[in-house]
Amino acid sequence: LERYRISFVGAGRVNGALCRYLFNTGFRIQKIVSGTEKSSRALAALCDAAWSPDPDFADSSDIIIAAVPDDKLQDALINIRCSENTLVAHTAGSLGLDIFPAHIIHKGVFYPLQTFTEDRKIDFTELPFFLEASDPGASGMLRNLAESMGGIPYFIDTEHRRLLHVAAVFVCNFTNYMLTSGSQVIMKTGLPFEVLYPLINETIMKARELGPVKSQTGPALRLDKGTIEKHIDLLSFSPELQRIYKDVTNSIIRFYNTSSDDKF
Ligand SMILES: NC(=O)c1ccc[n+]([C@@H]2O[C@H](COP(=O)([O-])OP(=O)(O)OC[C@H]3O[C@@H](n4cnc5c(N)ncnc54)[C@H](OP(=O)(O)O)[C@@H]3O)[C@@H](O)[C@H]2O)c1
Repeated sequence: LERYRISFVGAGRVNGALCRYLFNTGFRIQKIVSGTEKSSRALAALCDAAWSPDPDFADSSDIIIAAVPDDKLQDALINIRCSENTLVAHTAGSLGLDIFPAHIIHKGVFYPLQTFTEDRKIDFTELPFFLEASDPGASGMLRNLAESMGGIPYFIDTEHRRLLHVAAVFVCNFTNYMLTSGSQVIMKTGLPFEVLYPLINETIMKARELGPVKSQTGPALRLDKGTIEKHIDLLSFSPELQRIYKDVTNSIIRFYNTSSDDKF
């Protein structure tokens, strides 16, 4: 596989993980552009790369990966100056190729379906990458890049990738917020969050093995009205958690008991 010369715009969660992994896989990292000098300079030093606040890439990068907050991507792309042979790719699940300005000729989307947080080491082996590209040359480069990281490339259009992103928000971001909600409740008992680990692990493993629809348990599935009312009462310390509890309970009841009129 080819060893492209790679540069980055943004040095946050996604680019931090991609940059370190690509460097360790043997790619040459050329330049990291970001506004926050401290963390991005450290990343550049770690990967033998140059650091700059100026997104001028001259003629030297084969691929530039831009990973900045979705709302700032358009501005970041407009400012990039690079060779017309350079492929510029963004990593946003919900944005397409139409976000690129006209002066960027070879464009792509390089969306790794994973959750990235600072200081977490991510293994890209077997990770699905959802790709989109403006031309066959760009497609080939993105496919090569994903494969050389040990990932699995899939080509998908913007509309389908957006839906995939919504699915990711449910299974990852909302699930994690449920864990946060559970941790707030368990705090009231004085018990550590760790006592929930076997339950958390079995929930995920079971959903993978049986499928989530078959795996559901709990008072909402059983329509245990008395228990549900008690739970809502116990949550009076937090109207926010009470609302989430009621909304999700009602949604589970509707999903499994379409004929039920029960509402909380
Ligand atoms: N995090 C995830 O789990 C995940 C997963 C898949 C895809 N994505 C996508 O990846 C993209 C980046 O997400 P992230 O979580 O890595 O964001 P992030 O951690 O907030 O990092 C964003 C980085 O962009 C820099 N930045 C902001 N505006 C810039 C500009 N105009 N020019 C250059 N750098 C700029 C920020 O630097 P300053 O601090 O200097 O502003 C920061 O280093 C988003 O499109 C997101 O949808 C995220």
